[in-house]
Formats: sequence, structure tokens, C-alpha cells
Amino acid sequence: MITRAIETLKNSTSLFVLTGAGISAASGIPTFRGKDGLWKKHRALDLATPQAFNNNPALVWEWYHWRQKIILRSKPNPAHVALVELETKVKEYLLLTQNVDNLHQRAGSRHVLELHGNIFRTQCIQCGIKASHADIETPFVGIPKCSCGGMLRPDVVWFGEPIPPSIWQTTVDFLNKADTVIICGTSGVVWPAAALPEMAKSKGSTLIEINIEATPISQMVDIFLGGKSSEILPKIAAGI
Ligand code: OAD
Repeated sequence: MITRAIETLKNSTSLFVLTGAGISAASGIPTFRGKDGLWKKHRALDLATPQAFNNNPALVWEWYHWRQKIILRSKPNPAHVALVELETKVKEYLLLTQNVDNLHQRAGSRHVLELHGNIFRTQCIQCGIKASHADIETPFVGIPKCSCGGMLRPDVVWFGEPIPPSIWQTTVDFLNKADTVIICGTSGVVWPAAALPEMAKSKGSTLIEINIEATPISQMVDIFLGGKSSEILPKIAAGI
């Protein structure tokens, strides 16, 4: 199967990659679903909705500070690095990540779009200004404030909030021409990302999925590679 994936990618001129929490698992960052997933220990409704933030911003920030701390301790793993290499080997490339951990950018990927925002960016709920804190070394404490006095929120997409339209449009435009799609480390159950594999399939793209277990996407993919992305992606990148 991996040989087929390598052959497909050797002939690819336009590659779209969709990643999810599983690609960062080898960096020590917990995924959301599965046995030890974040949503097993916490309720998404208490922490990842605009209502949750309105009700208890301190609790929401506490959770985000805790996640920032884990991410700041972690490093890109061989899967992130392999994607950087893949990007240099195809003519056209777009990486769409559902992750907010900044690890693709830290690894050196250039064409990255963040569907769900970035845990190291904030947005003021009063004046709307956004700021990047990608260079911080220690997480924020308490509820951070804007210079206008307004409360800052993490610049991430919460449940019930829309995806940034420009990111979605760029994604759809790229998918219209992508000959190959890699779907890596996502459970494929959160919309609208969950709609992308079918969209790509209907345009004739070859779909390659990398996951430690089958997902709802697996039945429609052309090549399923079962295993850890930190082991499979480096083999693919080396083979092309
Ligand atoms: P999930 O936690 O739902 O799924 C992680 C997927 O990665 C699962 O299918 C695992 O089997 C797989 N996996 C785990 N370890 C892996 C490894 N080493 N190599 C390959 N695959 C592995 O994470 P997402 O699909 O990213 O949204 O979740 C989507 C969205 O749901 C997140 O962005 C987040 C969450 O709620 C928001 O917070 C808005």
C-alpha cells in the first residue's frame, strides 16, 4: 500500500493535505477523541463554545493556558518534518490543518492554512484586534487584556462559530484542482473539514488516508495506510 501511495505522489502535481490532532500525537499533544482524548475528560460545551467563554472566561483560559503549556514543551515530530519535505517535491501544495498548535509552521511548512485558528493568537472581544503570541515562552496567566481594556479570547474557532470564509474559499479552490489528497490523523467527524474528502473524491482526486484506525472517511479512500503518521509519512517522503 505504501508503494502505491509513493507512486501516486511521484505523479502528483497538485497535493492537498488535511491534518488533525493525530499528527501531533507523537509530539505529546493529546488528541480530542479516543481513549485518552481531551473530550473524555472535559466537556466541549464547557470549554470550547462562545457561551462557555461568556459564562466563565477564567475557566476557559485556564484550559487554554494548560494546553499552551503542553504545546510549548513539545516539538514538531517526524510527521510534521516529512510534510515539509513533501511540499518541496510537488509543484502545487496546500496544507489545511484543524490543529491550533502551530507545529506545522514550527517545522517549516510554508503553505499552511489553519481551519480552527491558533492557540497562540488572541482576539479582543471589544475592539476585535488580533495579535500573535507565537514567540512566547511561557503561557499567559489569568484573563489577558487588550490595550483598549477589553478581554482577549483565544483566536480559535469554537463549536457553533463559522470557519473564516477566505480560508474555506482557498481550500475549495485548491481542491478543485488537487490530483491527490492526504488525510492524516483526523477522526473525520467534525464539520466542515469532514466534508472535504468527499468533495475531493467527486472531483476525481486520489485519496490517501493515514491513521492508526479506520474512520468514517476510510471507506471512500483509495489508499488506507494504517499506522502512526510519524512512521508512515517519513517513509513516503523518502520514497518520492
Ligand atoms: P480527533 O481527536 O477527533 O481525532 C484524532 C485522530 O487521529 C483519530 O482518528 C486517531 O485515530 C488518529 N490518531 C491518533 N494518533 C495517531 C497517530 N500517531 N498517527 C495517525 N493518526 C493518529 O482530532 P481531530 O480529527 O483533529 O475542534 O478533531 C477535529 C476537531 O475536533 C479539532 O480540531 C477540535 C476538536 O473538537 C475544535 O476544537 C473546534
